[in-house]
Amino acid sequence: MAKIKVGINGYGTIGKRVATAVAAQGDMEVVGITKARPNFEAKAALAEGFDIYVPAESVESFEKAGVPFAGTFDGLLMKADIMVDCTPGDMGKGFKEKYQAAGVKAIFQGGEEHGLTGVSFNSTANYKESWGAQFSRVVSCNTTALLRTLSPLDREFKVTSAYVSLVRRAADPGDSKGGPINGLEPSVSLPTHHGKDVQSIMPWLDINSMAIKASTTLMHIQTVMVELSKEVSQDDVIALFRRCPRVMMVNSREGIKSTCQIIEMGRDMGRSRGDVYEVVLWEDGIRVVGSTLYYYQAVHQEADVIPENVDCIRSMCKMMEGPESVARTNAAMGIDHRDGMHVRLQYSRRPSL
Ligand SMILES: NC(=O)c1ccc[n+]([C@@H]2O[C@H](COP(=O)([O-])OP(=O)(O)OC[C@H]3O[C@@H](n4cnc5c(N)ncnc54)[C@H](OP(=O)(O)O)[C@@H]3O)[C@@H](O)[C@H]2O)c1
Repeated sequence: MAKIKVGINGYGTIGKRVATAVAAQGDMEVVGITKARPNFEAKAALAEGFDIYVPAESVESFEKAGVPFAGTFDGLLMKADIMVDCTPGDMGKGFKEKYQAAGVKAIFQGGEEHGLTGVSFNSTANYKESWGAQFSRVVSCNTTALLRTLSPLDREFKVTSAYVSLVRRAADPGDSKGGPINGLEPSVSLPTHHGKDVQSIMPWLDINSMAIKASTTLMHIQTVMVELSKEVSQDDVIALFRRCPRVMMVNSREGIKSTCQIIEMGRDMGRSRGDVYEVVLWEDGIRVVGSTLYYYQAVHQEADVIPENVDCIRSMCKMMEGPESVARTNAAMGIDHRDGMHVRLQYSRRPSL
């Protein structure tokens, strides 16, 4: 069967990772990426073997810098079956018109509103809803993480209500903009959009959220309090989380006490860019009191949405069912374990370089 031809619009934090992940799959290929500036990331894309396409207004700067490119954005549209739009949030409307005119499918990211596409995507919660769609949106990193645990909890135990408090990273590690650089900044517009974004996929869920921006770049942490429709045991909850795709359990007793050690573990595992694609739960930080469940989960914001983009391509191009796609994506990206112990076993067996 012919490979699906994927174009990536934007090669920043998310775009470069989606490109690497797509290139690792056997049933799809990257036909080109776009860059607006001829900087070091453009050279990195060339080194990875990707053809660069540029917006018409960037042609001159690429020529001046001597960075080779294969054509303009319109040329990439003619080659692609589907575009993964990874441009900064709020640019989606303009690009959607271009994809529509070219008759090309497109995936947008969480920086866009749900209304842009009318359907949003998460591999665990609603794979089939993007089946054959021309446009879909992979929800944000925080929403992806919440859906990975709330959706299975709702299916298994029925969630009556959920409350989430987020401690958000202020900027990505590659950014020298943003802040605070030494402080904590509450989001005063309440409740924050995070709960509402979960409702773009689970509209029936009673969920609210608050958030604080913190002076860190590594990960977000979410504190989650869930009211279940019945009393359950802690063991039942842990057993469920162990069965959830792309959920990793760690334990503070084994030295994973903070986001610092999670990122270090991602590097030790030899993942591309040290990425931690799973949402990471502290097993010893899970508590059930009656029918109320409490847990913490850490989110590598640069990474968790990447496998979801690959699955979204398969759903929109009607390539295979959800569980099969998740398994194939995981196998190609080295996501094949359920907890920190398993991870350590896996990487201790890697041959030395
Ligand atoms: N960063 C995260 O943690 C994260 C997590 C989940 C979802 N998201 C979402 O993913 C999307 C992308 O975010 P990001 O963090 O990857 O942004 P980013 O790092 O700023 O990258 C944006 C990319 O878009 C390119 N671009 C800008 N204007 C363009 C144009 N006119 N034509 C073509 N390309 C253009 C930029 O090119 P140049 O570099 O050449 O200017 C850059 O490569 C947003 O919707 C965001 O909300 C981000």
